[in-house]
Amino acid sequence: MEYKSEIAGKLAAITGLDKEQVESLIEIPPQLSMGDYAFPCFVLAKTLHKAPPLIASEIASSEELKIEGVSVSCAGPYINFSISREILAGSVIRDILEAGESYGKDSIGEGKTVIVEYSSPNIAKPFHVGHAFTTILGNSISRIYSKLGYNVQRFNHLGDYGTQFGKLITAYRLWGDEKALEEDPIKELLRIYVKFHEEAKTEPSLEDDARENFRKLEEGSEAEVALWQRFRDVSLEVFKKTYDRMGVEFDNYNGESFYSSRIPAVVEALEQKGLLEESEGAKVVKLDDEGLPPCIVLKSDGTTIYASRDLAAAIYRYENYKFDKNIYVVGLPQQLHFKQVFAVLKKMGYGFADNCVHVGFGLVKFKDKVFSTREGNIVLLDDLINKTVEKTCEIIRNNSLARGGDMSEEQINEIAEKVGIGAVIYTYLKSGREKDIVFDWDEMLDFEGDTAPYLIYTYARTRSILRKAQEQGLAPSDGAGYSVLTGDDEYALIRSLADFKDSVKKAAASYEPFMISRQISLIARNYNRFYNNSSILNAGSDELIKARLALCEAVCDVLKSGLELLGIDVVEKM
Ligand code: ARG
Repeated sequence: MEYKSEIAGKLAAITGLDKEQVESLIEIPPQLSMGDYAFPCFVLAKTLHKAPPLIASEIASSEELKIEGVSVSCAGPYINFSISREILAGSVIRDILEAGESYGKDSIGEGKTVIVEYSSPNIAKPFHVGHAFTTILGNSISRIYSKLGYNVQRFNHLGDYGTQFGKLITAYRLWGDEKALEEDPIKELLRIYVKFHEEAKTEPSLEDDARENFRKLEEGSEAEVALWQRFRDVSLEVFKKTYDRMGVEFDNYNGESFYSSRIPAVVEALEQKGLLEESEGAKVVKLDDEGLPPCIVLKSDGTTIYASRDLAAAIYRYENYKFDKNIYVVGLPQQLHFKQVFAVLKKMGYGFADNCVHVGFGLVKFKDKVFSTREGNIVLLDDLINKTVEKTCEIIRNNSLARGGDMSEEQINEIAEKVGIGAVIYTYLKSGREKDIVFDWDEMLDFEGDTAPYLIYTYARTRSILRKAQEQGLAPSDGAGYSVLTGDDEYALIRSLADFKDSVKKAAASYEPFMISRQISLIARNYNRFYNNSSILNAGSDELIKARLALCEAVCDVLKSGLELLGIDVVEKM
């Protein structure tokens, strides 16, 4: 039984509030001793014209609120609910084991479409650690919304258009090396791009040539389109390797270029609504009422710009997907850009503008400043992953050697790849997304710290206990007998398991996967305390052993489900 839902139902009946509203108001008390759920009565004060503490005590004593195994008390304006440990243990573990690794799944999103746009790197540019942030965060947000039953459409809004492609075309015709492009496309494209800027300092006509090439590209001129297509294809091939390695997927790679042909219609609509104004030769939408600078739609030479492509993209997405939410996972420096785009959409009369959300994130820094890269001062994701996997390999190999060398080199590499990538992903998702991240290998690979290796290790070790039990003919008890799990450590662990589902919903509502990383980290800590203080396979009675094994299995299911929502794979042995 879902106690939260049961409690919400009774409270709704008594107060006349909506059950969903009650459910969203129910809090989890900060301390275990304060019970399992708390309902704050402030919302009722206005309608009932009474002080919240009085309301709380009246409702708490109501006969209608009685639920078997649940005791009710009040603390000031709060009504606290405590579920008896025996009953809680049974209901939580049964719930988890029934769902298995899909625990956390929900149907609240059924029939609703959510677009999550993430990654969106720029063609011909290196994939750096900032793009890794949107990729990892967006991937996790997509998984979270899918888990809650939403129809999720994953968009990669590739930066595959703009004046820089005119420059690349000019540069490639002058200095391009076909062979180098095949071998390391991004490196070659970056080389000629940098050269273009160096040469243009003394040879300004290059800029004119580039502008002309971009104009031709926009007009669909065959030769320019063919070159551009080539740059796009080779870059995307490189990006896809990284996506594969990280288990990241997309439904749609419509880049900025895709929307360029849709811009004239947007311009026409803006003109018809009288929203377009001339400003120094450019066409802009003034946003003074919103306290924002004007949004440029067409540049003075008539070419389109980043913002106009975003306007066309948002309208396209709505017309084709009728989304309930359109989420942009893009760094905080672009906050103003999205405010402007959403404001223009709103001025155009599109109600869906209110369902467009910019999900921003912080910067990526390195504690170890000497971390050198191939590309000067930007750090490439591939280099970050390689170095982390390499370091993880060393740790796993040493651990295996300490156990007498129980793993083959192949096994070590396979495990290190998963754990290393997990460590990178977790570092991005372990704190609120707007905070800056500082990479520090000692910290992120600490097997005792708040890290992916710690969580994966906890999972793998628990799996090994379950395997050992099986060898001894001991199976986790199913369906009954969990009521013996009432010790303090067991109770704390079960409570943290019980709160997992809520953490998934909260993560979705706030676009913060860290709600989940924090919860599974708490579960792992509680589990390890329980594990260190109590014996599992030598617990005394058969009944207790089997119940504890069931608890172990529940922990594995929830850890696996939670890590998967972050985009992290587990390993069975480590
Ligand atoms: N390509 C851009 C960049 O690397 C990010 C695109 C963000 N998405 C958007 N719809 N504007 O900065």
